[in-house]
Amino acid sequence: MEQTIAQAIKKRFDVDTPVQVSRPDPAFGDYATNVALQLAGQLGQSPRDIAEAIAEELRQSGDFSEVTVAGPGFINLRVAARRLQNSLNDSWHDHFGANQDGNGKTVVVEYPSPNMAKPYSVGHLRPANQGWAARRLMEESGWNVITDNHLGDSGTPLGIWIVGFRRFSSDEALERDGVYELGRVYIQTKQALKEEAEAGKSELADEVQQWLLKFEQQDAEALAYSQRFNTLSLNHIHHVMDRLHISTDHELGEAFFAPKGKQAVETLLASGVAIKNEDGSVIVPLDEFGIDVPLLVQKSNGATLYATTDLATILYREENWHPDRVIHAVGAEQQFYFTQLFAMAKKLGVMTEMIHLWFGVIDQLNDDGTREKMSSRKGVVLMEELLDQAEARAHQVVEDRDVSDEDVKKIALGAIKFSDFTSDRRTNILFDWNSIFALTGFSGPYVQYAAVRVNKILSEHGAGQANVDGYDYEAEKAILAKLLEYPTVVKGAANELEPHRIAQYLYELAREMNRYYEVTPVATGDVSDTQKQARLGVLARVSQIFSHGLSILGIEIPYSM
Ligand code: ARG
Repeated sequence: MEQTIAQAIKKRFDVDTPVQVSRPDPAFGDYATNVALQLAGQLGQSPRDIAEAIAEELRQSGDFSEVTVAGPGFINLRVAARRLQNSLNDSWHDHFGANQDGNGKTVVVEYPSPNMAKPYSVGHLRPANQGWAARRLMEESGWNVITDNHLGDSGTPLGIWIVGFRRFSSDEALERDGVYELGRVYIQTKQALKEEAEAGKSELADEVQQWLLKFEQQDAEALAYSQRFNTLSLNHIHHVMDRLHISTDHELGEAFFAPKGKQAVETLLASGVAIKNEDGSVIVPLDEFGIDVPLLVQKSNGATLYATTDLATILYREENWHPDRVIHAVGAEQQFYFTQLFAMAKKLGVMTEMIHLWFGVIDQLNDDGTREKMSSRKGVVLMEELLDQAEARAHQVVEDRDVSDEDVKKIALGAIKFSDFTSDRRTNILFDWNSIFALTGFSGPYVQYAAVRVNKILSEHGAGQANVDGYDYEAEKAILAKLLEYPTVVKGAANELEPHRIAQYLYELAREMNRYYEVTPVATGDVSDTQKQARLGVLARVSQIFSHGLSILGIEIPYSM
């Protein structure tokens, strides 16, 4: 469409210009463009005259059933549905929507990177969802994708766990409650440390440091604790990631990078990139990037920091993976930190494109209607609890229909994930069970249901034919136009790393399908065999787009619901 118009402009005015089309109110046409208004300045003519000239050219092309000029110079176009169907036939291949924009370049995508001290919480739901979608968008755009779970497994919690376990827990409790007991111990010990500090004492804190030291010295008892706690915690993280149906190729956490970070700091000091303060702490000044807060890469006591491990992470990835781009799926709270980190990377001469794929927090509604960041005080905070509750809701959705447990899980997960994509990732999202499971709204179940319905028709009546001669496709026109939009939507979503564009598209496609069924018999009732084969053929494509689009969002389609 855009191309045809661009060609007409080239022919008439001998200029190359990008053309954008929109979908106007159907009363005016199938497509519209305001390109004439954009050209007016450049061509020194009235937009109306330019529009008339382009319109004339387009009429002669024979590609449109109607071309009209409206207002100051809008061009409205009507096409025969058959032409849309032909375009689809020409451009359709197995992965309509996939493209090769990435050209085999390498991208590292980092997610969900939870912290090991506590059980997996909803705080790492968005990193999982958005990270996964970024991965999928890159894959579908021809990038070579490497994924890495940057675990928050650095040393400090270990000391707290050991001391807390010895004081406040027992083998039986750990046996029974696993990581949840560890989380409890961690919180209790943190609280005790806080109270102790307020009282001006440091007995517990000293004990924590002693255990950390023992660990560094490879003391057998400390190592045994570390192994026991880490295994518990890691198994739990993997279990939750399995439930979320996400995985990564690598799992190189902070602990892996800490010793490397120490060395890297030495190198930075030697080269003068980093500076040692009087108290012994080490900073990297970032003034030349307009950032007046330097990045602290080592504490005065020589201890490593978050930034120390990230310094090593950057160097490691450069050396081993040679990425063209690195995407970090991490919440908005860390925006300033990543600005500093990326500036430091530049200072080190790292040319890789660094992206902080940030997103807002998950809010929940208070009883009085106000919004607040989701917290344990108010409701669910444990990821497993959230998933359990979602599954209970999904059971309600399917009532007593014959739906497998597998499908119930898909519905539960689909609902939760889709809600992450209902608006631009940068906005805070409101976690509201009712809208997440709304069967008639902008929700996962609504889109999944539309996909299930299409699939059901196809499995009962066959996949029809991709192209039926002698059928005009007029009844399917809106669907065909929608399908033709898909590759552009995927491209835009990938370029901007905005998966909500896919969610929005899928919702619109689902709505289009529901409108369609209301007026058009597909395979039963008053329908000829030609119609039936052609319509099933269109549905087969719709089905492919639903699975392709939902798979980008990490959502599976149930068999029934
Ligand atoms: N574990 C961190 C957190 O939960 C996220 C890690 C982000 N990645 C990084 N390279 N710093 O806050």
